[in-house]
Amino acid sequence: MGVPLLNASGCLDALAAPEVARTLDIFVTKTITPSPRRGNPPVRIAETEHGMLNSIGLQGPGLDNFVDHQLARLSALGTELWVSIGGFSADDFAVSCARLDEEDAVTAFELNLSCPNVEEAPETAAALVAAARGATRKPLYAKLSPAQWDIAASARAVVAEGADGLSLVNTIRGLALDEGLRPRLARAVGGYSGPALKPIALACVHACASAVDVPIVGMGGVATGLDALELVAVGASSVALGTVLFADPAAAGRIRDELATEAARRGFDDPLDARGRSVVGSE
Ligand SMILES: Cc1cc2nc3c(=O)[nH]c(=O)nc-3n(C[C@H](O)[C@H](O)[C@H](O)COP(=O)(O)O)c2cc1C
Repeated sequence: MGVPLLNASGCLDALAAPEVARTLDIFVTKTITPSPRRGNPPVRIAETEHGMLNSIGLQGPGLDNFVDHQLARLSALGTELWVSIGGFSADDFAVSCARLDEEDAVTAFELNLSCPNVEEAPETAAALVAAARGATRKPLYAKLSPAQWDIAASARAVVAEGADGLSLVNTIRGLALDEGLRPRLARAVGGYSGPALKPIALACVHACASAVDVPIVGMGGVATGLDALELVAVGASSVALGTVLFADPAAAGRIRDELATEAARRGFDDPLDARGRSVVGSE
């Protein structure tokens, strides 16, 4: 059975690199918004000692262009397809989910409730999930921000409104300076991803796995099979690869092999058997 591997939204362009997308069990699109968006001005990416900063700002073609020009090509990849939905109001989420609900190629939605690079949506995460739930019967994965005091409370709230699963975690706000002490990103602040995020992601998955009984896609700094196994041990049922894909597009095959080896070393025939082993209160 194994642990399904996904890409983290925004970290793989499947149309530019279809051979990479085919190494995954599920491909997740970059976040789609109802209207086209140019995103934030450059510089939008900066590498730091322990991770990467980005301030892409939900650049994308918009819903109509996505449906007309990308969806058929993505479904032809033969990999299961999730669409990441974003927006600035409950209505935005409802419109996109309703439109894509008709598309058989889309097997689930990931609701980006937590982009650090746009102004906060006025509605709460739970209200956005409720709006999406009213618009589709497809599975909904709520992607939450790690930057909240009580992520377990958010997890309970979105599940109560109809989320079928959680995606944990999005990036967390960070800032890097250049030699002249000026911010390296044009917008100064961006989303911080990569190795530094792993302990934060582990804590968030651990907290949510204890709070709700739904599938969790774990992500944040996964670069090795052991990283993936750790996310499973704290409660993830699948794992997404993000920043690692920029440096190592072939990471999925390597991580799958390492995951099996690391699980076997610890006595698990299937890495998924380790699920929840590290959740306090489990056996
Ligand atoms: C360049 C870049 C673009 C991203 N774009 C999106 C996006 O469109 N939607 C989204 O939900 N998350 C987006 N993310 C966040 C990732 O999906 C993921 O949650 C985060 O990077 C943590 O995983 P990692 O440490 O393995 O990269 C983006 C991350 C990066 C680095």
